[in-house]
Amino acid sequence: MMKTTLQLGVLLLATALAAGSYAADGGNPKKGKHLYKKECKVCHSQSNAAGELTPMSKTMAQWDRFFDKDKHKANPAVFEKLSEKDLKDVQQFLYDHAADSAQPQTCG
Ligand code: HEC
Repeated sequence: MMKTTLQLGVLLLATALAAGSYAADGGNPKKGKHLYKKECKVCHSQSNAAGELTPMSKTMAQWDRFFDKDKHKANPAVFEKLSEKDLKDVQQFLYDHAADSAQPQTCG
């Protein structure tokens, strides 16, 4: 059990290093998931006009770009009302489960 966990840790680290980018470093993905459900799903659900959005909708690089450059320009107020820390947490959650991540996730 311990050994497996350790191996998984090494594998994840290797994957992260291979990806060469750790821009979403330091966020809390657990808090991010909670925030994503609370702050994003209101508009980004299947039945909504903004369209369904899941961590898998983008790659890790695309999420970093979105949070660094785009900053939700479709509706800037959405990001402006969140603190820098909150945004970092959401970014971390989406990044950790992006389409090309080690653990892609379709639901938030
Ligand atoms: C008030 C409604 C609303 C909320 C809340 C909201 N969004 Fe959006 N979002 C939109 C709209 C509208 C668009 C533009 C959709 C389009 O271009 O078709 C959009 C676009 C996006 C896109 C670009 C989609 C693409 O295909 O590239 C991303 C990524 C995104 N939002 C992420 C988020 C995240 C993350 C949150 C939570 C922090 C969030 N949104 C909260 C309404 C919302």
